[in-house]
Amino acid sequence: MCGIVGYLGHRKSKSILIEGLKRLEYRGYDSAGLAMLVNGKLKLARSVGRVAMLEERLEQEGGFDGTIGVCHTRWATHGGVTELNAHPHKDDRHGLVVVHNGIIENYAALKTYLQEKGHVFTSETDTEVISMLISELYEGDLEKAVQAALREVTGAYAICVMCEKEPDTLVVARKGSPLLVGVGNGEYVVASDAAAIIAHTSQAFMLDDYNVVKITPSGFHTTDIHNTVVTPKISQLEIDLEQIELGEYSHFMLKEIFEQPKALRACMSGRLDTREGRVVLGGIGSFGKEMTKAKRVVFTAQGTALHAAMIGRYFFEDVAKVPSTWEYASEFRYRNPIVEENTVVVAVSQSGETADTLAALHEAKERGALALGVVNVVGSSIARTTDAGVYLRVGPEIGVASTKAFVGQVCALAQLGLFMARRRLMSAYDCTKFMQHMEALPEKIETILGQADRIKKITERYIERENWLFLGRGYNYPTALEGALKLKEISYIHAEGMPAAEMKHGPIALINEGLPAVFIANRGKQYEKVMSNIQEVRSRGGHVIAVATEGDQHIKNYCHDVIYIPDVIEPLSPMLTVIPLQLMAYYAAVARGHDVDKPRNLAKSVTVE
Ligand code: F6R
Repeated sequence: MCGIVGYLGHRKSKSILIEGLKRLEYRGYDSAGLAMLVNGKLKLARSVGRVAMLEERLEQEGGFDGTIGVCHTRWATHGGVTELNAHPHKDDRHGLVVVHNGIIENYAALKTYLQEKGHVFTSETDTEVISMLISELYEGDLEKAVQAALREVTGAYAICVMCEKEPDTLVVARKGSPLLVGVGNGEYVVASDAAAIIAHTSQAFMLDDYNVVKITPSGFHTTDIHNTVVTPKISQLEIDLEQIELGEYSHFMLKEIFEQPKALRACMSGRLDTREGRVVLGGIGSFGKEMTKAKRVVFTAQGTALHAAMIGRYFFEDVAKVPSTWEYASEFRYRNPIVEENTVVVAVSQSGETADTLAALHEAKERGALALGVVNVVGSSIARTTDAGVYLRVGPEIGVASTKAFVGQVCALAQLGLFMARRRLMSAYDCTKFMQHMEALPEKIETILGQADRIKKITERYIERENWLFLGRGYNYPTALEGALKLKEISYIHAEGMPAAEMKHGPIALINEGLPAVFIANRGKQYEKVMSNIQEVRSRGGHVIAVATEGDQHIKNYCHDVIYIPDVIEPLSPMLTVIPLQLMAYYAAVARGHDVDKPRNLAKSVTVE
């Protein structure tokens, strides 16, 4: 969603700020803006559309050559996509600007109060309220004014503030939305995402909720909103530049699809002890015992991560024999859920910042559950809220459509399930056998990726069709949902995913001549049932594309196209069956001429409800 970059140092800040914003483009936005102090005077430019347009505007206007500045990419929430609503938001009384990620919930009441005080608003945003409020409370000390303003605000924010009256100061603060301070050699880069910092320094600290940091050329000073001093911990960022660059690939999504074998190896590295027959999960720490005693496990997430969570549910019931359910985090948090003793809640999230998932986790903790996380971004809000967890270790995911994180989530959930199974009922021998199947997965994915050209050709035969179905059973019902979601989000083709058996209860009416129906029909407990469903579609004119197990010649007689995957045990099969579906979505979007890495309306991480 929105992105923040700020710079204070000895270098000209324009290119650092713009490069930073470009690194954040993947998160999704619709307008951008930049403010800079040049010889103590504010210069500001904003534009609707891409960062490149803002860059053009800066060139046209000229003179943006200061060494301190802030900039922002906005994903509209309060107010339409207009230049006036783009950040930074300015207050003229003190020449003060604010960029903001998050949502101010009490903005309407604050706005009325500020209007009564004579402030004139020029935008429809909630952010403008923050700039006016800081200005109203400013008495010659920007840090104090920010602290005072934030004591009045409810909601979520990451902000970066700059002011003509203190021309060598940046003040940043956070509650609920991530914000990092990169500490370089006599310079500081502030950003909402490490991707905008890593080119300049690998040393950084993440603000905690309610932290306020004052940055000047002589150093930084951290407090909370009540001015109590806080000591942040500077650590090494866990990403490198190569991971966030496109390299030889045309899109990040394709790069990340092809990175999946490597991502899975990293996810499993050092965790599968096949000699001793046990899973080693350092992130679970001392919570192993409590987890093993669980009477119920609730998986919660949104979107693709929810599909992984659903597979987790199948896995935990089937392999670890623990009663399990899954829930949309957005529903769980408001549902007044019953959380009995010995309940474990597992939040699954790539970004670790999804607002609903984070709130569901807080709710679960409040009600006494053990809160676990299966998260990719180290140090993210969800990772910091959980009692314990497993990191995906798949590297930064830049493609808006999640691919390698999904496979990493399923793999990490399998490790967690196996960890529990081994402690509850599984022998060391069986655990070793299972882990050997896991270790074989990366190579099997490589053989599927080797068929990319063929999958492209199959997909291109159907790209004119506006409706698709994705059908699967058991472990691969969530995979069907994921296949449909991938196709929708980047190709804008309407697709529905469902359990194959559900089709007869209504959706079968959709089937007409040539409708593409993708069946996940690998060998497993319900193979025969899936075959019957295939025939039902076939006999009504649907075109069946099956994802089947290598060597299954029989299925060819019933399908228009078959994509083969290597044989695999059923609980691990989603990590293979999803690969052709990701490639189909990718090639469909490219064939339709869409910008795969910037799908319309989508944001990489959804930090609002
Ligand atoms: C789809 C996609 C989204 C996310 C969802 C949750 O490709 O990426 O559906 O899975 O917004 O995001 P995280 O995993 O960051 O919590």
